[in-house]
Amino acid sequence: MLLEVKDLNTFYGLSHVLQGISLNIDEGEMVALLGRNGMGKSTTLKSIMGMVSPQSGSVIFDGRDITGCPPYKSARAGIGYVPEDRRIFPELSVMENLFLGIKGGKIRENGGPRVWTYERIFRHFPMLKKRAHQRGKFLSGGEQQMLAIGRSLMGNPKLLLVDEPTEGLAPLMVEEVRNVLEDINKAGVTILLVEHNLKVALSLAGRVYLMGKAHIGFEGTVEELKCNDEVRQQYLEV
Ligand SMILES: Nc1ncnc2c1ncn2[C@@H]1O[C@H](COP(=O)(O)OP(=O)(O)OP(=O)(O)O)[C@@H](O)[C@H]1O
Ligand SMILES: [Mg+2]
Repeated sequence: MLLEVKDLNTFYGLSHVLQGISLNIDEGEMVALLGRNGMGKSTTLKSIMGMVSPQSGSVIFDGRDITGCPPYKSARAGIGYVPEDRRIFPELSVMENLFLGIKGGKIRENGGPRVWTYERIFRHFPMLKKRAHQRGKFLSGGEQQMLAIGRSLMGNPKLLLVDEPTEGLAPLMVEEVRNVLEDINKAGVTILLVEHNLKVALSLAGRVYLMGKAHIGFEGTVEELKCNDEVRQQYLEV
């Protein structure tokens, strides 16, 4: 198992926003974490990454206990994080933004299949290659999302946590981002995806976790979810 999250409890002040979250992901999987607004999906990703500290529970990644580690340590352990708001550096070029994703500031040329160079990223994201010398602020929302994903790959993650990558994008761009996620998953990157677009999520993931308020209400394969109208109504439909 690549990621094993056990019984996480996370608070914002007095508000108990994760109440015993458990989930696991095997190497190579793409798993979706779904649910309505405010259930705790982003907080789950942040608790895994260490942006917020869980009060109890554990996060075991690649055989190491990283519970409560600061984000830079989780990144070094092999987790990439693409936050909801993308956090592109607007004044830096696409290329410069990508280089900021390198851990330890070392540019690695070639290497094993896990190593992402900017050339390799440009092969997977031809759209970014065309814009290589443009500043981040001149990219469209979809291109910025591609850049955020590409930048996180520069750290050679084993696991990528991706929060709402298609939010606010035009339909064509939604499709492009979807395809990029499929493509990098096939290239060997394990992905935990939070996504509001159900069609996108179910076309990518093999398994899903559905969140109710602060807890996981359902886990199963995409096929199991598709057959279960009751669960879909309870956790997804408005
Ligand atoms: N920094 C914060 N301080 C206090 N409360 C917060 C903070 N961030 C989130 N919350 C609250 O914690 C709960 C879970 O929020 P979270 O952002 O994890 O939900 P989500 O499932 O990602 O929702 P969305 O689909 O809207 O992104 C919500 O009730 C939210 O209002
Ligand atoms: Mg969220």
